[in-house]
Amino acid sequence: MLTAGESHGPQLTAILDGMPAGVPVDPDRVAAGMARRQLGFGRGNRMQIERDTVEFCSGLRFGETLGSPVTLVVENRDHANWTHILSAFGTPPAERGRELFRPRPGHADLVGMLKYERADARDILERASARETAARVAAGEVVRALLSALDIHVVSHVIAVGGERADVEGLSLEQIVERAEANDLRCAEGYDRMRAAVEAAGADGDTVGGEFEVVVTGLPPGLGSSMAPDRKLDCRLAGAIMSVPAVKGMEIGPAFLNAGRRGSEVHDEILPQSDGPPTRASNRAGGLEGGMTTGLPLVCRGAMKPISTLKKPLRSVNMQTGEIDKAAFERSDICAVPAAGVVGEAVVMMVVAEALLESFAGDTLSRLRDSLARYREGLRDRMRGLT
Ligand SMILES: Cc1cc2nc3c(=O)[nH]c(=O)nc-3n(C[C@H](O)[C@H](O)[C@H](O)COP(=O)(O)O)c2cc1C
Repeated sequence: MLTAGESHGPQLTAILDGMPAGVPVDPDRVAAGMARRQLGFGRGNRMQIERDTVEFCSGLRFGETLGSPVTLVVENRDHANWTHILSAFGTPPAERGRELFRPRPGHADLVGMLKYERADARDILERASARETAARVAAGEVVRALLSALDIHVVSHVIAVGGERADVEGLSLEQIVERAEANDLRCAEGYDRMRAAVEAAGADGDTVGGEFEVVVTGLPPGLGSSMAPDRKLDCRLAGAIMSVPAVKGMEIGPAFLNAGRRGSEVHDEILPQSDGPPTRASNRAGGLEGGMTTGLPLVCRGAMKPISTLKKPLRSVNMQTGEIDKAAFERSDICAVPAAGVVGEAVVMMVVAEALLESFAGDTLSRLRDSLARYREGLRDRMRGLT
């Protein structure tokens, strides 16, 4: 997949390559996925301007994929207010406006200005902005259609915001998802505490970060590889989760907790099953062993730093004068962890779909489905052969 587009440019574009033919795509489901990314308590008012609708420009005919690249476009409604500022040609207006000369600590501004030799950080931040994730979520919804057709499901929920953690002990995944989808912090527990943390930060002109968890169910064992380090699914999932803007940490299952425990408290005992390959007594590995899926739910977590645009800014340098100054402020989120979880789903779906297509025939959905079914049947037969 390739995305293009500036935050206040006319549109975002995603080109998704490698989709099998014959995958039914429901535009209402795509729209619902886009709406989930726009929501979240603590978002700035940009999301009130945008109505992220997806236009399909290639790869789809009468609601089914053709096997050709899928091109998706998401219009930036806010572009109407920026046409003279983000113009592809012509000369800048006398008062260019909206220049950013005081780079924000934590954002791409300063390093981008230095690397690309730009006087105005606008040239950097327009692309570094997380607005780009709308394109990835759009493409992710197409991939979700493929995975759903194979009975593979991807969900997410927020596990911490501003230092407040959700206590989900004893809740099933279904309960977690039902609760998380019902509130604007996308958390299964601790809503009031998290909301208060966002409100308190906002009142202080400050921001918060947090953690989200993406869970994939219905996977066969063996996606990924232990044969080459960079093909381990752990590695590819880490890259995907870390590609979500502002995510600075990633774990598979409760990896950081596991690191402090003994082996006997961490590893998932292997138990026989009457009709299928052995299963596990627990899933503390988060669904991965040896770089491959175990067949249990795949659990990926992302840790998001606090948003770097602060109403009460930190110190910075004015890049026009070289003088110390306050960093620039422009309309911004106070907390975007709920949306980051939705983006997390999209990037995980890409990795999982890619791994599926590597292992199973992928020209058409029906051949992919047959090939996966044969593999699952083979796993069952192999165990039957032992009895
Ligand atoms: C959904 C989402 C929304 C975001 N909104 C903002 C925002 O409003 N203001 C901001 O400064 N950063 C925001 N960020 C984070 C920046 O995009 C990110 O910090 C920046 O691109 C620098 O990249 P890095 O933090 O990954 O190093 C958001 C991130 C996500 C995932």
